Amino acid sequence: MSPDVTAAPAPSSGGVVSAAGRDGVAVAATSGNSPDNATAATPSAPEYAAQGEPIGALVYFSSASENTARFVAGCKLGEYGINVYRVPLRPADPPLNVREPYVIMVPTYGGGVIKKAVPIQVKRFLNDPANRAWIRGVIASGNTNFGEAYCAAGDIISAKCHVPFLYKYELMGTPEDTAAVRDGLVRFFTS
Ligand SMILES: Cc1cc2nc3c(=O)[nH]c(=O)nc-3n(C[C@H](O)[C@H](O)[C@H](O)COP(=O)(O)O)c2cc1C
Repeated sequence: MSPDVTAAPAPSSGGVVSAAGRDGVAVAATSGNSPDNATAATPSAPEYAAQGEPIGALVYFSSASENTARFVAGCKLGEYGINVYRVPLRPADPPLNVREPYVIMVPTYGGGVIKKAVPIQVKRFLNDPANRAWIRGVIASGNTNFGEAYCAAGDIISAKCHVPFLYKYELMGTPEDTAAVRDGLVRFFTS
């Protein structure tokens, strides 16, 4: 069963997803998640801005198939006070700079190979210490056809960034997934 999106925010400490290694993922023992590490890069504008005072943010990645993008659009998180940022798809796109607490939502892309589960675009985003400083949790999606590698991107990010794996869902999600993520994120950021 999928975990509920109710865990308290993790303490701001822990590891990183570094650019080392053949597949571009390795654990590096560095200073960890702290807003003190943030640089002065200009924060990016949200794709969907919170209505009123923001309570938190969601950062998501979605490939050209757009399953995750459709799921996020259906959550209408802006109406619930949550800023939504999208990790750029192409290397030439301007980098995403997030400087507020966020949960990251990521589809799994290892083709069944667990160590390759995190999309390169997400690795690049998290390899920036100023972005990584604000991560508070992870939600992953995938396809159960991939067996043990189902939603493995969530396990990897949770372990490397020391944040809770809050929820997993399949493909573009169900209406129940939409409600669970939306209500769970609101509880996560307000309790
Ligand atoms: C090339 C490829 C590899 C994938 N590998 C995995 C995998 O290892 N584990 C998994 O759970 N899902 C895997 N998936 C399923 C995707 O995570 C799923 O289709 C997701 O909804 C894609 O989201 P997006 O359309 O927003 O990019 C894979 C999909 C593709 C196309």
